[in-house]
Amino acid sequence: MNPIRFPLDCRLKRLCRGHPRRKFRCGQPLVDRWLATQALQHQEKHLSVTKVLLDSEESIAGYYTLAAGQVDFSDLPHEAVRHLPRCSLPVVVLAWLGVSSSRQRQGIGGRLLSQALRDCWGVGKSLAFVAVIIDCLDDSSKKFYQRWGFKEVPGRPHRLYLSTKRLTAMMGDRAGAS
Ligand SMILES: CC(C)(COP(=O)(O)OP(=O)(O)OC[C@H]1O[C@@H](n2cnc3c(N)ncnc32)[C@H](O)[C@@H]1OP(=O)(O)O)[C@@H](O)C(=O)NCCC(=O)NCCS
Repeated sequence: MNPIRFPLDCRLKRLCRGHPRRKFRCGQPLVDRWLATQALQHQEKHLSVTKVLLDSEESIAGYYTLAAGQVDFSDLPHEAVRHLPRCSLPVVVLAWLGVSSSRQRQGIGGRLLSQALRDCWGVGKSLAFVAVIIDCLDDSSKKFYQRWGFKEVPGRPHRLYLSTKRLTAMMGDRAGAS
């Protein structure tokens, strides 16, 4: 699988204390605030992992956060749980994703999402989960994720899911090719 091609001046790193996380602005205050105040603390407590895309000036061009989670059988649509036991099901939560306002609409969000899905797929080789879940903040970000094959959970318009089956198929497709 080819590596994700981020802009040449950028590189992806696991979030560290020295990264300028309080300066990040993506136009969505909740996404900024999470990075500024909680991402590192949660990572240190092994609750989530955040990866930041750093540019040549060490500014954060974008980031994403992944965490383990679980949902009830009834929280996913029938097509996603058809052959699964009626119990709590393991999922990966794409908890946060943001691109710096000055770098939006340049393909970085799509590449970060693609990398996050590759991370999920990699994890899935050693630790099972049935879907990747996202709780969107608004209709605009929902449209962004839907372009990647995420589907709405019926009755929960801002919760999207991507089944592991679909994720696996994508790895030979769009996410694998970016
Ligand atoms: C949503 C977000 C991550 C997209 O990042 P981005 O770098 O601008 O996205 P890309 O340039 O990779 O866009 C990928 C595609 O999605 C579309 N797209 C991007 N942002 C969109 C938006 N807000 N609404 C609808 N479509 C959007 C683009 O048209 C693009 O398609 P194209 O390549 O065919 O033109 C970015 O706008 C952002 O950080 N928003 C604020 C934080 C947020 O809402 N995060 C999500 C919830 S945690």
